[in-house]
Amino acid sequence: MTVIKKICCIGAGYVGGPSCTVLAAKCPDVIITVVDISQPRIDAWNSDKLPIYEPGLDEMVKQQRGKNLFFSTDVDGTIRDADLIFVCVNTPTKMYGIGQGRAADLTYLEAAARRIAGISTAPKIVVEKSTVPVHAADSIARILHANAKEGVTFQILSNPEFLAEGTAINDLVNADRVLIGGQQSPAGHEAIEALASLYARWIPRERILTMNTWSSELSKLTANAFLAQRVSSINAISAVCEATGADVEEVARAIGTDTRIGSKFLKASIGFGGSCFQKDILNLVYLCESLNLPEVGEYWQQVVKMNDWQRERFTRKVIAQLFNTVQNKKIAILGFAFKKDTGDTRESAAIYISKYFLEESAQVAIYDPKVSEDQVVRDLSEPGLLSNVDKIKKGVTMYSSAYDAVKDAHAIIVCTEWDEFKTLDYQRIYEGMQKPAFIFDGRLILDHQKLRSIGFQVEVIGKRV
Ligand code: NAD
Ligand code: UGA
Repeated sequence: MTVIKKICCIGAGYVGGPSCTVLAAKCPDVIITVVDISQPRIDAWNSDKLPIYEPGLDEMVKQQRGKNLFFSTDVDGTIRDADLIFVCVNTPTKMYGIGQGRAADLTYLEAAARRIAGISTAPKIVVEKSTVPVHAADSIARILHANAKEGVTFQILSNPEFLAEGTAINDLVNADRVLIGGQQSPAGHEAIEALASLYARWIPRERILTMNTWSSELSKLTANAFLAQRVSSINAISAVCEATGADVEEVARAIGTDTRIGSKFLKASIGFGGSCFQKDILNLVYLCESLNLPEVGEYWQQVVKMNDWQRERFTRKVIAQLFNTVQNKKIAILGFAFKKDTGDTRESAAIYISKYFLEESAQVAIYDPKVSEDQVVRDLSEPGLLSNVDKIKKGVTMYSSAYDAVKDAHAIIVCTEWDEFKTLDYQRIYEGMQKPAFIFDGRLILDHQKLRSIGFQVEVIGKRV
């Protein structure tokens, strides 16, 4: 039986960092080194200010770091010593050439595979943890085997990650399930068992699902597609609610109590964000098209289309309420991260909403407890958004408190559901705003009746208040 004593994780990002920290805490006898090509990222992992914010992560890293958890830029040395290698590199949407805007860009994955092949002098288990198109494991296997040193063999496993940002530690410690896909051969089963036995230290065996590699790869894309589809479905219904006087929260409660439907992921919003939902659906759409299944591709594409429409619909509604012009008006955006309890802004709805307001020449005032001004400027100047950095700098002001951001504003827009926005002193805020004072709750987190009684004009996703 293969026993894993040393693990290398390639990619010290949102997945590699937290997942290896939990693994280190649960397997104190295994040495785990997380490597990255980015020196600043590794320096941050070795400092008091970690590169990502995740509740509970700081304490856990402090407990394990230097014992059996290490962060390093020595990619080659760590690969050479490891029995098992997790590949947790980024697999963004391809921004050029064939499949542009849809296919997954596997450049980083391929680079990692080539490095593993070039360095390894002993057999290794290579675990694909990044989210990849179906059959990526085959590409990795071909690169590894074509470049392997004499006598060196590899087993490739698929072990997709299901953590969500903001709840990563709990998701890893109390995972609903762990998926391990591998080759259906004696050597494949041995590798699957070696990885399963690590997870079995804290995950009950019945929740460790083993299967063939392609099922495992496809299950990851499918899980994200289904979750995103639920958000787009409730957001589609939110528009019907606003038009009819139905209340989207009541509808969500009504359908969510049907155990066949379930209550999770039915919160209407200004649209899903994050680095993965859109990317992974587009990846699935591209896969379907490549397999000559255009109807399936179109079906899933609609989930992304609905998401784009929800963001735009919400912004149009705000502008219409503000007497059809926001030029030079101060619009306060509360929350810029794609969800609460993370500083991650990738594909955040707030980026697109801010962009629309800047195009209408509004003065956009932003407050987010975990997002810096540099990050906001970087996000808004991404290709395809606003290329004019001066315009962004002129139009956007970052504030270090919600009270400062909303002072003298014409409207407040809640873009992220941070808990602290629920307990702000809205009476004080109302008094400091331009009148009529508008508040748009894009996350359904505020007490709308109370806001109305203070004097606010309140607009909410999915209901009339
Ligand atoms: P990330 O961008 O935060 O981290 C990836 C890291 O890999 C970067 O620090 C980068 O420098 C490093 N890297 C790239 N190529 C490298 C190489 N050849 N050698 C060493 N380091 C290299 O990405 P992430 O959010 O952690 O996502 C990683 C993968 O996991 C993606 O495929 C994503 O779809 C998937 N995933 C992400 C989440 C999430 O919540 N972020 C959840 C589940 C799955
Ligand atoms: C999501 C999945 O939940 C994870 O299982 C998966 O591992 C991860 O993608 C990934 O592959 O990267 P994440 O994007 O971190 O995790 O966060 P979610 O909680 O899924 O939220 C995604 C977006 O949907 C957020 O913008 C959130 O605000 C929005 N959302 C979520 C809603 O608008 N309504 C809901 O009911 C739920």
